[in-house]
Amino acid sequence: MNELISPARSIHGAVMLPGDKSISHRFAMLSAIAEGTSTIRNYSGGADCQSTLGCVEALGAVVERDGKDVTVRGRGLEGLRAPAARLDAGNSGSAIRMLSGILAGQKFISEIAGDESLARRPMDRIMQPLADMGARIEAREGRFPPLRIEGRPLHAIDYTLPVASAQVKTCVLFAGLFAEGTTIVREPVRTRDHTELALREFGADISARKGVISVTGPARLEARELVVPGDLSAAAFFLVAALLIPDSNLVISGVGLNPTRSSLLDFLAGMGANVRVLDVRQESGELVGDISVRSGPVRGGVLEGAMTAALIDEVPALAVLGAVTEHGIVVRDASELRVKETDRIATIAENLGRMGVQVEACPDGLRVPGGQRFRAAELDSFGDHRIAMAFSIAALAADGPCTIRSAEAASVSFPEFYSTLRQIAS
Ligand code: S3P
Repeated sequence: MNELISPARSIHGAVMLPGDKSISHRFAMLSAIAEGTSTIRNYSGGADCQSTLGCVEALGAVVERDGKDVTVRGRGLEGLRAPAARLDAGNSGSAIRMLSGILAGQKFISEIAGDESLARRPMDRIMQPLADMGARIEAREGRFPPLRIEGRPLHAIDYTLPVASAQVKTCVLFAGLFAEGTTIVREPVRTRDHTELALREFGADISARKGVISVTGPARLEARELVVPGDLSAAAFFLVAALLIPDSNLVISGVGLNPTRSSLLDFLAGMGANVRVLDVRQESGELVGDISVRSGPVRGGVLEGAMTAALIDEVPALAVLGAVTEHGIVVRDASELRVKETDRIATIAENLGRMGVQVEACPDGLRVPGGQRFRAAELDSFGDHRIAMAFSIAALAADGPCTIRSAEAASVSFPEFYSTLRQIAS
């Protein structure tokens, strides 16, 4: 599907976001192995989180969907059953990597795979620690999906993450729920801590302090009534839209403000962006608030080290913003972008180039000089939801209408993205 995006004069109004993708995955998986029926309000309608629901259903959890609300009748830690067919994680790295931690602790063999993009993403990062815990896993060429996971009695390990990855951390902690003893994950670089918060919410024996997270198994999780906050990574596109287009004024309500994610707002504010947080509260263990953003000059900045790990999903949007900042944006330490849904360094550089924007790509980052303009162009999502959304925003600031090819990729995390954009752009 192609989407035609016309230039906007201003962005204004209020935005409703989908439920946070990261939190939705975790709540669904933990509900499936909890005792009793959990309700999850504002569950992400994105295809990725629907893939996770499909997988937990295939494993025996009973799932009922009612608009944005989902109920999951859990099977308890020991109650999942062998799926009748290969599990389908779709486009979702989170689904395959995190679920593998649960599959490793089962008494049955399962297979899990996904679409073409997922088939190219590395799984050795989870295979190694799961093998250390006692699971047997085979993969195509030793590291790519499909995965064949032979669940076994697991033992606890003490594991230091070699890559800054919340998916890997989560996979090991989920396997740790099934293992005898205390599994420890050490993270040299802090990553999103939704798993730690969710495990606490479900009643697991978990502690997390200064980058050392421990969980003791076998665990007994209890069903919960949960609310998923709005997805800050989805909000990022609208924040950038309001900053790019003059005379803009936007309010985004009910956004997840977990400190391991909300450094986006600090980064933007540090560059002089007019972004404010109002009415912070707590729901299902997570911080939630409303964000107001107004257009105005943005200086530009450097994203590196731990900040890059925290904002890794926001790089496509920030690269677009970089072009219209005063001094531009430099992104370093971002080699993980090469193994996301697409090689995002390449796909960002390709689309910026098509818009006549100067950009320098390097193996682990990019530099987008400031003070540039976007030329109308034919752009491509390359099947990557964040590339579709980032360049739809760039198109709003172009000197003529732009086409986004394979625009439907946005529905992986945000099915209502284009209708929301049409509501707020004029
Ligand atoms: C996620 C972690 C990140 C992120 C992804 C969601 C999660 O991936 O890019 O969109 O929910 O834990 P990595 O853990 O591979 O960095």
